[in-house]
Amino acid sequence: MAKIHVVKVDPLRAAIKTLVRGFGSEPREVDLVTENLIQANLTGHDSHGIGMLPKYSEAYVEGGLKANAHVKMTLDGGAMIRLDGQAGFGQVIGHEAMELGIERAKKFGSCIVALGNSHHLCRIGAWAEMAVAKDLISIHFTNVISRPIVAPHGGGDARFGTNPFTVGIPVPGGEPVLLDFATSVMAQGKARVAYNKGEQMPAGRLIDNKGKPTTDPQYAVVEPHGAIVTFGEHKGFGLAVVCELLGGALAAGMACHEPATGEKRVLNGMLTILFDPAKLSSGALFGNEMKAFIEWVKASPPQPGFDHVRIAGEPERETRAKRMAEGIPVDDTSWGDILEAAERLKVNPAEVNRLAGL
Ligand SMILES: NC(=O)c1ccc[n+]([C@@H]2O[C@H](COP(=O)([O-])OP(=O)(O)OC[C@H]3O[C@@H](n4cnc5c(N)ncnc54)[C@H](O)[C@@H]3O)[C@@H](O)[C@H]2O)c1
Repeated sequence: MAKIHVVKVDPLRAAIKTLVRGFGSEPREVDLVTENLIQANLTGHDSHGIGMLPKYSEAYVEGGLKANAHVKMTLDGGAMIRLDGQAGFGQVIGHEAMELGIERAKKFGSCIVALGNSHHLCRIGAWAEMAVAKDLISIHFTNVISRPIVAPHGGGDARFGTNPFTVGIPVPGGEPVLLDFATSVMAQGKARVAYNKGEQMPAGRLIDNKGKPTTDPQYAVVEPHGAIVTFGEHKGFGLAVVCELLGGALAAGMACHEPATGEKRVLNGMLTILFDPAKLSSGALFGNEMKAFIEWVKASPPQPGFDHVRIAGEPERETRAKRMAEGIPVDDTSWGDILEAAERLKVNPAEVNRLAGL
């Protein structure tokens, strides 16, 4: 089992900023990339936190991830826009795409944003949070262009990515609903985290390179590759297909239909539908009905193993509060990989270590 360090947010942020400067990023990019990754760790999604940096550094050195790139509008249809992410950091491209979409949705009542060619957009919930903060509903269908890692329901090898599906709904006078998950039974990074910690995965999540069920996370992380299965059998598979068709083929003009190329870069295509609920329904009625439903559902008596019923978005808020107070757990193997990434980017690893207090 790998050793776990618990690092307070401020020193970790300082250490990660120093590393991200190694990409040659402008100060705004350093801030956006660092904050997005730290927020993923704070919300409990370590699979999409600072542990992504080794992969980003390899993609950058190989030329598949471009520093200081910005979204380019390739179609302006008013309430329908198409953007090219120019292989830039998803943390910047996602932010800029959402800023544009939010501005248009405020003006027209709704906006559809088709985004292609963005490097890894990371935790898609971050983009829904931006919309919800402006009282907008946002729905995201996302595909992944990288090594195929998810098997179709009934299939024996990997044919597509972990294709996340995300919805953010502001609740007037209450906490927003934030549903954000991979259509695979788990995000691929969760296998990486388990592999780095030397842990096995629960049964029913993975198949090996021969298509047989396994609990060994190595089959989702290193050669020989197997595959992760979709959640909810044919239902999650169906949603994964929709994410590929809308987020990939339609929004990005890029769907997964080839074996792995060996490239390190991870591209995301994302179709975002933004709209203003206040323009569709009486705000008070919508808000009251939502709050009544949420209270009703949460009043269900908890099953053994549960303290209470939670609504999507709640676990992330709870973990954020806990980790803000206590710090972020980082395992030794992942931290070693981060220090290697620093070296790859010609940043002094000792300085990164010192800033993190490790
Ligand atoms: N950019 C990419 O290519 C990519 C690919 C896949 C996943 N992701 C991201 O990975 C992250 C993790 O995905 P995941 O599938 O591992 O998430 P997950 O399995 O932890 O599910 C998260 C969702 O389920 C809700 N949830 C969790 N526990 C709950 C409970 N007890 N009761 C009610 N709701 C609960 C959460 O609020 C959240 O909406 C997401 O942010 C996703 O966007 C990104």
